[in-house]
Amino acid sequence: MKLLVCGGAGFIGSNFVRHRVRDHGDEVVVLDKLTYAGRPENLKDLGVRLDAGAIEDADAVRTAMAGVDAVVNFAAETHVDRSISGPHAFVETNVTGTLTLLEAARELGVGRYVQISTDEVYGSIDEGSFTEASPLEPSSPYSASKAGGDLLVSSYTHTYDLETVICRGSNNYGPYQYPEKLIPLMVLNALHGDPLPVYGDGRNVRNWLFVEDFARGISHALAHGAPGEVYNVGGPDEAQNIDVVHAILRHTGADESLITWVTDRPGHDRRYSLGSEKIRALGWEAQVRFDEGLERTVSWYRENAWWWEPIRSGEYREYYERHYGRALG
Ligand code: NAD
Ligand code: DAU
Repeated sequence: MKLLVCGGAGFIGSNFVRHRVRDHGDEVVVLDKLTYAGRPENLKDLGVRLDAGAIEDADAVRTAMAGVDAVVNFAAETHVDRSISGPHAFVETNVTGTLTLLEAARELGVGRYVQISTDEVYGSIDEGSFTEASPLEPSSPYSASKAGGDLLVSSYTHTYDLETVICRGSNNYGPYQYPEKLIPLMVLNALHGDPLPVYGDGRNVRNWLFVEDFARGISHALAHGAPGEVYNVGGPDEAQNIDVVHAILRHTGADESLITWVTDRPGHDRRYSLGSEKIRALGWEAQVRFDEGLERTVSWYRENAWWWEPIRSGEYREYYERHYGRALG
């Protein structure tokens, strides 16, 4: 297959490209704006073409999309905290960018378009799990922009018969995740003896999915998903944030005194949980339980300082000081 992977230089996108090249022998073109989160080194040794460009740039999109069998779109602004302090880029990429891709896919007659989305479009759930039929009730600028993108994708199947599939994943973790997100941030801070900033009461619950399991789930939807359908891809385990932090302390040998309680995220969703029966019916099953995945993730960060050292001294440092500075003194 010849695939266009948008946002393929980011965390999940690069893990997906690795899986497609190694397990499926695909030819892959990556289109990526290379924001702070997009890193060419995530793709090193994979032999893929990388076009540096934005998904909202119609010319760049048409060039990258020419002659491909399918498009898988990971490109997005993805961090909830950044969407609260600066929402405009989220609409530009996650809504306008998605629309630009859909228009090009329609014009060029692309056979299949897969949109990578999130459990956050459903909002928060205290008990039970969301199904694909649950209403969209996003609560942050990030999740609202992702829901907007999803609705446009569905409209292109309904209106133009474009073959689309939407995959909604739960919280991913694993190698190559930018350390603004909970797990890599806590792992690197623990390894450096820095404070571990826990929001609110630390009892928010997330449904953890190892990134390689998500990559395989997306492949199932790409190959077997019915046009116009949505597939939830949830992790096998859920955990409160404070328990995740304690597990990271155990794996890194860091001291509990590093835990620092900080002001809660505004509008912080309490719990996410996805029912994944529909993608299971296509033959997918998560293979990595949280304990094993976390151990593999901590080992990867321990062994790959070449990857995170340049990040910790660059744009990230400014972001970190701006976002956590006052709370962490
Ligand atoms: P990430 O922030 O690590 O990577 C995003 C990538 O998109 C980067 O390479 C970035 O350079 C690129 N990008 C950003 N704006 C762009 C633009 N305008 N044009 C082209 N490229 C652009 O994100 P991630 O965690 O890998 O998430 C990938 C996708 O999966 C996103 O759509 C996200 O909403 C979704 N998702 C993420 C999670 C999670 O837990 N991380 C869970 C479910 C769904
Ligand atoms: O659920 C899928 C979503 O997961 C994706 O769509 C998003 O792109 C991805 O960023 C992630 O969103 P979350 O907001 O759940 O992830 P984050 O890692 O930012 O936070 C996870 C939990 O940890 C959340 O309850 C907030 C908390 N947290 C986070 C950070 C960064 C802290 O307590 N302290 C922190 O410093």
